[in-house]
Amino acid sequence: MADLVRVERREKGVAWVTIDRAEAMNALSGAVLEGLCVAAQSLRTDRSSCLVVLTGAGEKAFCAGADLKERREMTEEQARARVDLIGHACSLWSRLPRPTVAAINGVALGGGLELALACDFRIAARQAQLGLTEVRLGIIPGAGGTQRLSRLVGVARAKELVLLGRRIDATRAHEIGLVNEVVAPEELEAAAMRLADELAGCAPISVAKAKEAIDRGIDVIIDEGLRIERACYDVTLTTEDRNEGLRAFAEKRPPRFQGK
Ligand code: COA
Repeated sequence: MADLVRVERREKGVAWVTIDRAEAMNALSGAVLEGLCVAAQSLRTDRSSCLVVLTGAGEKAFCAGADLKERREMTEEQARARVDLIGHACSLWSRLPRPTVAAINGVALGGGLELALACDFRIAARQAQLGLTEVRLGIIPGAGGTQRLSRLVGVARAKELVLLGRRIDATRAHEIGLVNEVVAPEELEAAAMRLADELAGCAPISVAKAKEAIDRGIDVIIDEGLRIERACYDVTLTTEDRNEGLRAFAEKRPPRFQGK
């Protein structure tokens, strides 16, 4: 079961996670979802990685969303439980205490795009197609898509995609801020690894706390957001890495952060 989601440790502290079901466009079967949850749970406590990359096997699909063949056989109750599970997987991914990037190597549709939206960054291969096309199946995005997309690109653009069930290409996705970068397919891996290079110069606890401050602060009034920011800041104040940052500055050398 876990083989459908492969976790590899790569150089530069990168955990590389691949949905390995290319023959079904990496669709989210129950087994894939289980694998995604297990991977997220193990990465949560893994202090050796500085960046988590999520991608799909093959050249065609990042992830084509919910497994529509499994779905056809389900009762309403089972379908409800399955949507809960997709939402749970997205939430686990969105709460990982280190940066995550979706390396979108092909189509990212429905639950596949919802998963990419649960990541911090999205890099798309030029041929990728993205969409929350659920209204074309008589449903709506149910694993965070309506909420995360509108927060990311604004309500008007989110409505274009969601209400019309539109599929857009990577260039358009970049124009509206849905993806951070568009690259040639053969460049996708290198583009993700470049993020790891940048993160090598950043203190891991700072990065985790900055992520938490942004994610928890986005939905609350600003005074509460400022309190959240301050609480996150206070955690960094007592770290060894903060002292190392100051020492390195004084000694005019790059810092050697240890995540402590
Ligand atoms: N669930 C289950 N199987 C899927 C799937 C999904 N979401 N998406 C694709 N597949 C399967 C196809 O059924 C096909 O299997 P088969 O060879 O047994 O027939 C295989 O993956 C290849 O897909 P195919 O449609 O032949 O490839 P394509 O390149 O012509 O099109 C897609 C690829 C992804 C554009 C197209 O399959 C598609 O639109 N899928 C549905 C996506 C969707 O609506 N997702 C939202 C779910 S909420």
